[in-house]
Amino acid sequence: MSEKPKQQLFTTRLGVIAATVGSAVGLGNIWRFPYEAGVHGGGAFLVIYILFIFLLGVPVLCAEFALGRSTHMNVLGCFRQLKPRQPFWKIVGIIGVASGVMILSFYSVIAGWTLEYFFVALRGDVTGHTTAELHSMFSEFTTGWRPVMWTVLFLLVNYCVIVRGVQKGVEKAANILTPALMVLLAVFCINSLTMSGAADGLAFLFKPDFSQITPAVVIGAMGQAFFSLSLGLGCMLTYASYFPDETPLVRSAAVTVVLDILTALMAGMLIFPVVFTYGFSPQEGPTLVFEVLPAIFTQISGGALWAPLFFFMLFLASLTSTISMSEIGIAWLTQDRGVSRGKACAVIIAIAMVCGVACALSFSYWAGMSLPGIGEINIFNIFDYTSSNILLPLGGMLISIFAGWMLDRNVLRRELTTPVTAFAVLAPAIVFLLRYVCPVMILVIFVANL
Ligand code: PFF
Repeated sequence: MSEKPKQQLFTTRLGVIAATVGSAVGLGNIWRFPYEAGVHGGGAFLVIYILFIFLLGVPVLCAEFALGRSTHMNVLGCFRQLKPRQPFWKIVGIIGVASGVMILSFYSVIAGWTLEYFFVALRGDVTGHTTAELHSMFSEFTTGWRPVMWTVLFLLVNYCVIVRGVQKGVEKAANILTPALMVLLAVFCINSLTMSGAADGLAFLFKPDFSQITPAVVIGAMGQAFFSLSLGLGCMLTYASYFPDETPLVRSAAVTVVLDILTALMAGMLIFPVVFTYGFSPQEGPTLVFEVLPAIFTQISGGALWAPLFFFMLFLASLTSTISMSEIGIAWLTQDRGVSRGKACAVIIAIAMVCGVACALSFSYWAGMSLPGIGEINIFNIFDYTSSNILLPLGGMLISIFAGWMLDRNVLRRELTTPVTAFAVLAPAIVFLLRYVCPVMILVIFVANL
């Protein structure tokens, strides 16, 4: 089944891991996880989220890896090559390209916030404020025009990296960055644990109150599991199409998952002690982390120096994720539609810019906007909710059905066990989860939510 790769591949084993971890680890862990956990009751959310990571995330990640590496094709081409007479599977690719651009749009808004905070921190203006001041500082910023500027600027930076191609842009950017960010997070985490609200913060995050579990919590946790691992939209499939054939898939998946969970946990352990020490509300939503982080730097010794470094790393971590979501559409346009890489990048970024500006405006001039017959609409929330909680799990369900039922079982097994590593023993369990657990579980959760 494996045909000769028609395209550039990641050059080193470190490059493969750095790129996939770089895609997985990002604002999803540090910004989205704490805010989702905060809104959805803390511990109960965490338990279900981790359960979903293992029951749905690991198998779907392995499936995307297997599909991508075996075909060395983009998310539409891959299904066309494997099942040329079943055009239905095109739908996975369409969902993937569309949700990639959608996520890129709202993600760039948050990445833009990190840029603003980086420059504010450089001026030394992030530290030394009261909770009320931090709150008003942030809302003043988000209700103005600057987030629009930063969104556009961030997307331009993203363009400059992706246009250089996979090896030069993606691999290099990711190599040093992810480990450095994790070290920094660990240091800040230790600091948070010395705060007076640490016990309350940790109890909120780690002591599950199962009476809090509602359908909204379950679907939120499922969405977060997919979002955090960049799954369900063919992002990992696209990256796996750049894997050399000797990449061990299950082991690479295991490394990615472990580092991804670890980063989210560290972010939680960093944020919630501060939330309870300074009297923030954990239910604040998307703005939570940006109000809380400055409080950390006020408290930490040398905080004024750490702050710009942290926001810069956050910006870079966002970049390695947005590079990967842009690549889904770019790979399709260049391989299937014969568009040049430069043009493909320009098209994807241009669409994301229009949508991204709309998302940025939904915190300011378009806040509280309503449409006749529909009621209040917030474009940012619609983009975030629809992509993460609906499109990604739907894509994940289709991918698991395809890998579990449509693909020859021996082919799937062979992909998962070549080359052989100790992780190969997991292959039968992964195949089982893909066939029987993932599709059913996702379907049940969807139906229960209706
Ligand atoms: N996994 C990324 C994060 O946690 O920040 C977000 C993401 C990247 C989602 C790539 C989807 C994607 F295709």
